[in-house]
Amino acid sequence: MKKLGILVGSLREGSYSKKAANVIAKQLENDFEISFIDIRNLEFYDEDLEQEGKVPAEWTKFRDEVREMEAFLFVTPEYNRSVPAALKNALDVGSRPYGSSVWDGKPGAIVSTSTGAIGGFGANHHLRQSMTFLNVYMMQQPEIYLGDSSACFTDDGKIVERTEKYLNNFSEAFKAWVNKFN
Ligand code: FNR
Repeated sequence: MKKLGILVGSLREGSYSKKAANVIAKQLENDFEISFIDIRNLEFYDEDLEQEGKVPAEWTKFRDEVREMEAFLFVTPEYNRSVPAALKNALDVGSRPYGSSVWDGKPGAIVSTSTGAIGGFGANHHLRQSMTFLNVYMMQQPEIYLGDSSACFTDDGKIVERTEKYLNNFSEAFKAWVNKFN
């Protein structure tokens, strides 16, 4: 089974992005070896730290973990029409030192979420731009903009049927997408 790394752009406990990522992970659990990759403790990227003895241990741990992955799924909210800073920082940390990016040449996909109506369109496409630059082969279709995200889950945390089907359609396409790559 291929190793799939899931990165969630929201750090908060009750995150709808996290809930959606958990649903997708369940839908894909028989097809991938799944790891949720923690981005919370990554120090802000600072090129001055790229010297022997200065590289933060969390950067090294993160880079080693991501390097092992064979595919990526990003599930993220939109912050101010863009990617949350914690997630962008994780992309930057993984992209360096120059020439040693841990993202390079692997397939990936994005699910953007929002409690609003536009479903994180801005975050989705800003993230897509960075990942394309980082040479991650991003799935184009189906696009997933999970709008009105608070209505996608019941009070006891279960996903509503319509959303589950919407995400399942995505999960099936993602499986097929990753299988195109060796
Ligand atoms: C938001 N939210 C938001 N929503 C949106 O549709 N477009 C936006 O640009 C923003 N900007 C934004 C900035 C910041 C700093 C916060 C905290 C929130 C609302 C956002 O969609 C909502 O809080 C989601 O619930 C966040 O996702 P999680 O944490 O539920 O995954």
